[in-house]
Amino acid sequence: MAEGFGFTLKATDGAARTGVIHTTRGEIRTPAFMPVGTAATVKAMMPDSVRATGADILLGNTYHLMLRPGAERVARLGGLHKFMNWERPILTDSGGFQVMSLSSLRKLTEEGVTFRSHYDGSKHVLTPERSMEIQKLLGSDIVMCFDECPALPATEAEVAKSMRLSMRWAQRSRDAFGDRPGHALFGIMQGGVTRDLREESAEKLKSIGFDGYAVGGLAVGEGQEAMFDVLNYAPGFLPEDKPRYLMGVGKPDDIVGAVERGIDMMDCVLPSRSGRTAQGWTRRGQVNLRNARHQDDPRPLDENCSCPACRNYSRGYLHHVIRAQEIIGSMLLTWHNLHYYQDLMQGLRDAIEAQNLKAFVADFHAKRAEGDI
Ligand code: GUN
Ligand code: ZN
Repeated sequence: MAEGFGFTLKATDGAARTGVIHTTRGEIRTPAFMPVGTAATVKAMMPDSVRATGADILLGNTYHLMLRPGAERVARLGGLHKFMNWERPILTDSGGFQVMSLSSLRKLTEEGVTFRSHYDGSKHVLTPERSMEIQKLLGSDIVMCFDECPALPATEAEVAKSMRLSMRWAQRSRDAFGDRPGHALFGIMQGGVTRDLREESAEKLKSIGFDGYAVGGLAVGEGQEAMFDVLNYAPGFLPEDKPRYLMGVGKPDDIVGAVERGIDMMDCVLPSRSGRTAQGWTRRGQVNLRNARHQDDPRPLDENCSCPACRNYSRGYLHHVIRAQEIIGSMLLTWHNLHYYQDLMQGLRDAIEAQNLKAFVADFHAKRAEGDI
């Protein structure tokens, strides 16, 4: 639909797919993991280092950037890519989800949402139209519709009402976005864990027409089993020839399960946030480097990993800089975690292309079951 934007499906294996999203700022290999750069930075990483881990695209946030430093200011300083020195594709979330989880004194109406900033208490308004304007000021390559995701626990009636509001906002987002060659607009499916609501939402989004489709409203506390239940059918409601993005997911095993079920894109703060809380992710699961068992260990965090943390440093060193609260501790662990996530995505892409996903997934779970040694 948007000129300069497209999706080529290369191979499928069961419900899983691998392909390439084409943008004017470069290609995105799918399944893709998008590191989160909320405040115009992937925390503790230089942009070249983020690229070196294998990332093709970053995620930015309307909510945070509109409050600080302000979307108009970012535009005056040359747009988000130039501002943060990342020239490859950027997807921006639309703000509604973050308003609901971070801000205070929220008031939701048909028009949009008014709220107070979690930084300084200042009052702001977000509507579908303003969210489209902010994402344009930022210069985002993939713009997300303005939506609402109900907080759990919610009744089915509440989820239905919220989903229908999000679908009216999706139409308003589409109208406000207009026609912007080189920039894509994605719709966001809602509907909780109710199949009929998910189908109704998908039908509405398809009738409006988008460049890609997200599955929203998951990983909000329903648990992995319930999420996978939804992913057993929801991707099938969406067009085959457009990218499918699962928002805010997840742990490595969530990612593998989502890809098996037909998801093409994901984002999560987990690998970068864990890097600042002493958690390392490896083929053998999660390792807490704060634990005293690492203090005399000369081995790398993961002998199979080619990241700088694993090539150049021992577990004993990582443990020391974390305990000493040295900044390099966050830098090395974040780099490792992002590298691990991107290695996992490359493994998934290769396995799908080789029609070998089942064996890859069996090996993934077997290694994790052995645990860290
Ligand atoms: N991030 C995680 N889940 C969601 C969602 O449902 N909507 C939006 N806009 N962002 C999300
Ligand atoms: Zn590593």
